[in-house]
Amino acid sequence: MNFQLTDEQEMLRKMVRDFAKKDVEPTAAERDEEERFDRSIFDKMAELGLTGIPWPEEYGGIGADYVSYVIAVEELSRVCASTGVTLSAHLSLASWPIYKYGNEEQKKTFLYRLATGEALGAYALSEPGAGSDVVSMKTTAKEDGDHYVLNGSKVWITNGGVADIYIVFAKTDHDAKHKGISAFIVEKGTEGFSFGKKEKKLGIRSSPTTELIFENARIPKENMLGSEGEGFKIAMTTLDGGRNGIAAQALGIAQGALDASVEYAKEREQFGKPIATNQGISFKLADMATEIEASRLLTYQAAWLESEGQPYGKASAMSKLFAGDAAMRITVEAVQVFGGYGYTKDYPVERYMRDAKITQIYEGTNEIQRLVIGRMLTK
Ligand code: CAA
Ligand code: FAD
Repeated sequence: MNFQLTDEQEMLRKMVRDFAKKDVEPTAAERDEEERFDRSIFDKMAELGLTGIPWPEEYGGIGADYVSYVIAVEELSRVCASTGVTLSAHLSLASWPIYKYGNEEQKKTFLYRLATGEALGAYALSEPGAGSDVVSMKTTAKEDGDHYVLNGSKVWITNGGVADIYIVFAKTDHDAKHKGISAFIVEKGTEGFSFGKKEKKLGIRSSPTTELIFENARIPKENMLGSEGEGFKIAMTTLDGGRNGIAAQALGIAQGALDASVEYAKEREQFGKPIATNQGISFKLADMATEIEASRLLTYQAAWLESEGQPYGKASAMSKLFAGDAAMRITVEAVQVFGGYGYTKDYPVERYMRDAKITQIYEGTNEIQRLVIGRMLTK
């Protein structure tokens, strides 16, 4: 057994860390405050090859592995969780299903554009009445000549409005339950496809979360991903890997909160000595660091399993569950270490705490992760 990262993985970590420090962190608080998405950050990620990390070069990627991918999301989220999820949703939710289920033509066109960063991706599964219970979705896709006609709406879509390519799930056969769902590649600008409400959120405020509206949107048949009725399987297997991206986001948020807490605890003096010299504070830091290490091991392991072609669904649900819950606990403690200053926007820990909460909710709530893990243990 070897826990050593490869030279390539270490180099990628350094590159992303430098980029995050220089180009992402300086505006993170301001973008959060203004709820502003900055496309130029995505464009710079594209220049560095980050928008196509795990895909082969022939499809515009850089041919790295899934461990490199989670390292990138971790390092971005360490300074800005919104930027972390922009990349995670783009890579593991929008690009992965095309890589896995797309035909050669779809890979050469859509995956290539996503990988090179010419296009930004999004994944549209959730609906107002269908969050955890995916199969109850109401959006329909009806065959009409060379097209499918989409009607309905999707909510909470990360990168919604700013993305160019959307993986959209809709019912092609209402009575067939999960076997009646199909997946489509939908381009921004398609007639009948528009954007609704942009959510005002507690955290990840510079990542846009937007409603998608389909009113007789005609999607060419060649844009169906996989075959008719295969959509639920595509959605679930996509989430198998996507959830580990959220684990990486949670890990990065927690690490950022610990970094800030350690620095502050060494500098802040009360009763004539640094607060870090109090066991009550240093034990908090020790518990935070230990939970971060456990999160990192679970996250890297799930990514490694995927890179090795081994089953990774359970490992990914576990990493998301553990790292998400840990990030929430850790960021609450980080605010405590900072005392009153932690409760203000003068320091980043209140943002980390607000951002951590979403990692327990999206890509399947942590109750749903427990359901998935429990079913796998007992089936
Ligand atoms: N891989 C392959 N097949 C799978 C599967 C998987 N991971 N999970 C389920 N299936 C199969 C089952 O084996 C079953 O197959 P049969 O045809 O043999 O019956 C079939 O699919 C139906 O499965 P279930 O009976 O388990 O289906 P269910 O209706 O009980 O739902 C669920 C299961 C796990 C709760 C699922 O609905 C779920 O994952 N819900 C959470 C939704 C979610 O995670 N949404 C995230 C949206 S994206 C997002 O949030 C983006 C972002 O953060 C940026
Ligand atoms: P519900 O399903 O209504 O759940 C409410 C509560 O009940 C939760 O605590 C849940 O855990 C619990 N619960 C439900 N069922 C069970 C059960 N069987 N057992 C135990 N507890 C249960 N979706 C996309 O498709 N694409 C995106 O890009 C995307 N991005 C998002 C970004 C943000 C900021 C947010 C907030 C959401 C995003 N989502 C996205 C949607 C997200 O995946 C859903 O919010 C999530 O799956 C939960 O669905 P829900 O909000 O409808 O909650």
